Amino acid sequence: MLSQPHQLFGQAFNMRYAIGAFNVSNLELAQAVIGAAEAQKSPVIAQTSEGAIEYAGLPMIAAIIKTLAAEVSVPVVMHLDHGKSLELVKQCIEVGYTSVMIDASTKPFEENIALTKSVVEYAHDHGVWVEAELGAIVGKEGIKDLHGQQTPDSFFTKPADAAQFAQETGIDALAVSIGTIHGAFTGQEYIRFELLEAIEKVVPHLPLVVHGASGIASEHLQQVATTNVCKINIDTELRIAFERAVAAYFKEPHDMVDPRKILGPAREAVQQVVSEKMNLFGSTKKAVV
Ligand code: G3H
Ligand code: ZN
Repeated sequence: MLSQPHQLFGQAFNMRYAIGAFNVSNLELAQAVIGAAEAQKSPVIAQTSEGAIEYAGLPMIAAIIKTLAAEVSVPVVMHLDHGKSLELVKQCIEVGYTSVMIDASTKPFEENIALTKSVVEYAHDHGVWVEAELGAIVGKEGIKDLHGQQTPDSFFTKPADAAQFAQETGIDALAVSIGTIHGAFTGQEYIRFELLEAIEKVVPHLPLVVHGASGIASEHLQQVATTNVCKINIDTELRIAFERAVAAYFKEPHDMVDPRKILGPAREAVQQVVSEKMNLFGSTKKAVV
């Protein structure tokens, strides 16, 4: 069922697990993500980027997620991922999104605070959860590719800034830059647990979010899920599973042309990845607690 995240994150925070946030942009990906949640009896966040909204159309992708959510017993949060404007946040809330991210992390600190505050005011008036971002996560903000270098220190979330930011904006969750990278598999994907601990110390009751979790070692995902990180974002690994399944289809001879034969196995492959991540995050069977 379509759910507000407040109670879900409260339970995840207290019981030391994380809820997977998986990017969807079409019917098959949404079916895979929500299907995995039902099979695993796990809460789930189905999230759409601005690009996915552009591709599918906001009313359509919202209708797909809401329809699928209504058909399952587990809680499904519909979330705007990396929203860049109050305008789009309003449109998403209008069509029933229960959670939004305003990502003003590329703006100067004060401007990030100002825009985030305006989104919090509007969203909280409508009972909607707000995630914001501090620090830059390579691959979306700032440099696209590290070219084998380590992430520059200037990109990481500074604990002192996190405390002021959370206090001044009233956000519900904070996406932190602690070493993960959006999309890329450069071998630099790693989590700076000592930095995460320092951030937790200054905002001890704030749910944290990890972006760019594709490519992170399983044991590190399990470890980070037991911290104050309550939401872990995965997109690229779903895309890779989808693409590999479609490629495998075309490697085999086939005597008929049927999109269902192409997309069906891709949907299953994505559902498999989502289920594995839910196990790693510790959210499996938590929908029935
Ligand atoms: O916002 C979406 C996620 O941060 C995607 O990151 O493609 O590295 O899994 P990923
Ligand atoms: Zn992200």
